[in-house]
Amino acid sequence: MVPMKKTLGFFGAGKMAEGIVQAVLAAGDRSFFSRIVMAETQSARAREMARAYGVETTPDAVEAARAADVLFLAVRPQDVAAVAAAVRPHLTARKLLVSICAGKSLAVLRRAFGPKVRLVRVMPNLCLRAREGMCAICAGANATASDVKRVAATLSAAGRTVVLKERDFDAVTALSGSGPAFFAYMEQAMAVGGEKLGLKPAVARLLAEQTMLGTAAYLRASGADLGMFIAGVATKGGTTAAGMDILARSDFASVVSATLAAAAKRSKELGR
Ligand SMILES: NC(=O)c1ccc[n+]([C@@H]2O[C@H](COP(=O)([O-])OP(=O)(O)OC[C@H]3O[C@@H](n4cnc5c(N)ncnc54)[C@H](OP(=O)(O)O)[C@@H]3O)[C@@H](O)[C@H]2O)c1
Repeated sequence: MVPMKKTLGFFGAGKMAEGIVQAVLAAGDRSFFSRIVMAETQSARAREMARAYGVETTPDAVEAARAADVLFLAVRPQDVAAVAAAVRPHLTARKLLVSICAGKSLAVLRRAFGPKVRLVRVMPNLCLRAREGMCAICAGANATASDVKRVAATLSAAGRTVVLKERDFDAVTALSGSGPAFFAYMEQAMAVGGEKLGLKPAVARLLAEQTMLGTAAYLRASGADLGMFIAGVATKGGTTAAGMDILARSDFASVVSATLAAAAKRSKELGR
């Protein structure tokens, strides 16, 4: 028997929701989802989404809740309570709610959306807009193994996914959730360093960015041990070794650890 096609819904049609829609459409996940309904309060944004992707839009979250089988909660954390109050009566055990909201724990979501809905929590990052996202997935109340598989299949079209326990989510939020800003900061520092050596800003940025991208691609393709890779590039007496000597004697590693620890602490505070 051919399984019935499902409806994919969104509460909020902002940047992250758009990235997920793009991935679903590009990956042909339409074989699973025949319809996409997005609830969005900003009418101009809703029109933009309808025009760009051919999705159905509505200003009414209840309409999306009624129509969809799988619903992404993609509003800002401060708007979650209002959405929950409106849609809670419609979230029966037949609905799967996937929250991508930073800092909203499964316990908080269950209290807000009711005890019946199947819940999955996801911590994505902005890179899913370039289909190179990193999404951590965690099963919540009533979610089945196939719910988790379905969410992973949908989000893997937008990058990598990993299934983790919720206790890891503050660390995930710090490393991959906030990580794009930290890597961009490193890129900015590399580009400024290049400019100080006489390169034009646009050239310095290109060199820094392509080197960051290329290093990640090479490391993934080769599976190289990071320490061995660094030692291999930094041959004794060479240019890389001269630079590495400064980095290794600096506080760089402890500054990065402290950066992640501060982000994880803030994630824990926001989740209370
Ligand atoms: N952006 C990131 O890098 C990132 C990374 C990880 C996780 N997240 C999480 O992803 C979620 C979405 O983030 P985003 O950056 O995509 O936000 P966004 O671009 O601000 O989009 C949220 C959209 O939801 C709309 N909205 C608010 N209340 C609504 C309601 N009751 N019904 C329907 N639509 C409503 C907003 O309209 P108004 O502007 O009029 O309120 C806005 O257009 C957040 O919870 C965030 O924590 C984001």
